[in-house]
Amino acid sequence: MAVDLLLGLQWGDEGKGKIVDVLTQNYNLISRFQGGPNAGHTLIFDGYKHVLHTIPSGIFHKDAVNVVGNGVVIDPVIFNKEIENLSQFDIDFKNVLLISRKAHLILPTHRLLDAASEKAKGKDKIGSTLKGIGPTYMDKTGRNGMRVGDLELENWKEIFETLTQKHINMLDFYNVELEYDLDALREEFFASVAELRKLTFIDSEEYLHQAIKNNKTILAEGAQGSLLDVDFGTYPFVTSSNTTAAGACTGLGIAPNQIGEVYGIFKAYTTRVGSGPFPTELFDEDGATMAKVGHEFGATTGRARRCGWLDMVALKYACQVNGVTQLNMMKADVLSGFKTLKVCTAYEYKGEVIEHFPYNIEPENVKPIYTEIPGWQEDLTGMTSEDQLPQALLDYIDFIEKGTGIKITIVSVGPDRKQTIER
Ligand code: IMP
Repeated sequence: MAVDLLLGLQWGDEGKGKIVDVLTQNYNLISRFQGGPNAGHTLIFDGYKHVLHTIPSGIFHKDAVNVVGNGVVIDPVIFNKEIENLSQFDIDFKNVLLISRKAHLILPTHRLLDAASEKAKGKDKIGSTLKGIGPTYMDKTGRNGMRVGDLELENWKEIFETLTQKHINMLDFYNVELEYDLDALREEFFASVAELRKLTFIDSEEYLHQAIKNNKTILAEGAQGSLLDVDFGTYPFVTSSNTTAAGACTGLGIAPNQIGEVYGIFKAYTTRVGSGPFPTELFDEDGATMAKVGHEFGATTGRARRCGWLDMVALKYACQVNGVTQLNMMKADVLSGFKTLKVCTAYEYKGEVIEHFPYNIEPENVKPIYTEIPGWQEDLTGMTSEDQLPQALLDYIDFIEKGTGIKITIVSVGPDRKQTIER
């Protein structure tokens, strides 16, 4: 069976956790292929709210197996806390949560390096979640990293100490004030590793290969969004992994011709957390309303998210780079009450009108060109089927479908599993 992908098409926080949760009942296996605890996937059901960081969103479905792929970076300390937070559920972690031996580990000193790098950058900082993601991927590509499989070696503590010492030397290079207690960090890491080792480590590419051969249904769950991709995002204000479809191939060891459906998740408007360009950003009442009604605060860091209108130039770009086959529109309910909606359909780029996503979209180069669309006033949160949706929303959907050439198959009208309209 082919592997279906679920990807965020904007700057993350599109609501992927909710859709994976809705879709998981159709899948035997859910996997994560990139990123790490910088992600925060929020799931709301039966009156509970859960935020998952590294654990795949299939963990609440009794029959699903969850695989953390080789492309993910794992912080044992955060991972352990995530498991503890799930203790109220009767989850057989050893059998339903499998971890790739080739996944890289985030060491405490990776987090320190992230903090030092951001501090040294000053006002030019990336706005990182400070979870050590960038430094861990740097060690991976620099061929110095420590992997989950290393924990099965007798000398894993030596590997840890060598890498930690290298990081301490690097911290000197940054020459910024940073307070830390290395012994306490080491102790916490070792205790968490002891817990991690109780889980099952696998050769995940082989496991997935067999699952595909045995016709298992598989969903690969992306983290962050396409515009944060290290190659195709708004570099350098990006994360350090490939968040796009190709990342699923390298982050799981699956071949491109094994990919089936590609679900592209986007919000009916746009948000961004952290620094970096954002052409349709709003600094007025409209932006404040989106932030307030949409509860736009980071699930991982609690930071306020920047809000703005839907950017179709960026959305089309993300659809193209990922080969999206179905679109899912999230948070349509947040736009209820706006008299007029704006959608960016082109950029004025260095004096020219363009419809593609260029090399850089800094405000000095790019000005959004908007098409105005009438809004709707109805509260959508209690609606359960397409025929209840207001005509203005159907027109908005139609406009996006025509612009992207891709069908919107799910419209989300609230955070709960039940507030999901399939088309
Ligand atoms: P890092 O991945 O923590 O280094 O952060 C790099 C950039 O990606 C920052 O602007 C973060 O705010 C952003 N970022 C990382 N993970 C997420 C996410 O899951 N949602 C939204 N933004 C994210």
